[in-house]
Amino acid sequence: MSNGPSIDARSAPPTVTETGSAAGGAEQRVTLLLRLDDRPGALESALRPFASHGVNLTRIESRPRRGRTFDFYVDCEGRRDDSPLARAIAELSRTTTQVTVLGEADVPWFPRDIAELDLVASNTLDAGGALHTDHPGFSDRGYRRRRADIGRLAQAYRHGAPFPVIEYTAAETETWGRVYRRLAPLRSRHGCRAYLAAFDELERRCGFGPGSIPQGRDVSAFLEARTGFVLRPVAGLLRPRDFLNALAFRVFFSTQYVRHHSVPFYTPEPDVCHELLGHAPMFADPAFAELSQEIGLASLGATDDDVERLARCYWYSVEFGLLWENGQRKAYGAGVLSSVRELKRACGGDLPEDAFRPWDPEAAAREPYPITDLQPRYLVADSLQRARTKLQGFCASFYRPFHARYDAATKRVWVDRAIRRRG
Ligand SMILES: [Fe+2]
Repeated sequence: MSNGPSIDARSAPPTVTETGSAAGGAEQRVTLLLRLDDRPGALESALRPFASHGVNLTRIESRPRRGRTFDFYVDCEGRRDDSPLARAIAELSRTTTQVTVLGEADVPWFPRDIAELDLVASNTLDAGGALHTDHPGFSDRGYRRRRADIGRLAQAYRHGAPFPVIEYTAAETETWGRVYRRLAPLRSRHGCRAYLAAFDELERRCGFGPGSIPQGRDVSAFLEARTGFVLRPVAGLLRPRDFLNALAFRVFFSTQYVRHHSVPFYTPEPDVCHELLGHAPMFADPAFAELSQEIGLASLGATDDDVERLARCYWYSVEFGLLWENGQRKAYGAGVLSSVRELKRACGGDLPEDAFRPWDPEAAAREPYPITDLQPRYLVADSLQRARTKLQGFCASFYRPFHARYDAATKRVWVDRAIRRRG
């Protein structure tokens, strides 16, 4: 469309169509559809009533139509019956070919406020405690009871409450210590700089060491002071949508139970060794925090297909990502950093070159992945900053009828149009 039009208000009688209410969340939004002729000055004239009546616009999106007209979707702050907005609409109806007040956009439910994570935190898959028959602890009744007890504390947790403190047993601490010691030389050799720097601090400030399991409460406070990321207890695996949504709030769902002692160097599910030795150090890094939150923001109200794509991007970055440092591939993904076998495989030099590909979110989104086996390939980023930039570009292609932004001060998600969360 040429820039700006004049509207011939006399060419057709204006119409105002009400198709729904404008309420939606704490911020009120109204979306208007303006159908304008493709003439210089048309948009400028059409927007004038908003300014003159003091109505704030949050988004304008244009879509061409056949016959030299354009549709403009204009999102504004306020309610349909607010006087300033009502007056602006009345004026528009006199000056614009057609004005339609649209209803709310239906989107899949997502939390708007950090406290709303309480609504999904208990929705663990398999009720959080049902172990599969191939789980190393499946036949160990004592282990299952202990895991369920720790899980119950997480289930009862609510936003703002004190983080549950776990009195780990000697046997659990022994398992942790074995994993810790075995990983130590590998992480020094293959961990990326950000990971090693944070790990060093966690050892000095948060009690990281082979002799005791750090408390999630202390690690969470450490991370929050650095990047605003916090850990939140969870009883088991969540749906990808719920898990990814939390990242938008800089919240990482983190388990507290310990893997079964019989197989200390393998776990079919996340446990405290994976969370604290793999994930936690990276959340102290600002660039990694940005990348993680980017995935979370893109997942809010996304379609099921796009959530699936994002889950794969998450897998090939936050879980199994590598990056180049001084000509060497280093690990930043938690699934690599917390696994002896995965660290050796990804960074040990035995894999053929074609097992490594440059980080590309579009390719990652198409790539299936094994959950309980070693990864067949790894994606290698130039840097975490560039990984995030590429991810942003990829997510811009998603269909979503609104734009979301996180307000760290209020811990709420701001959206630029009226939406109705369903489901
Ligand atoms: Fe993980």
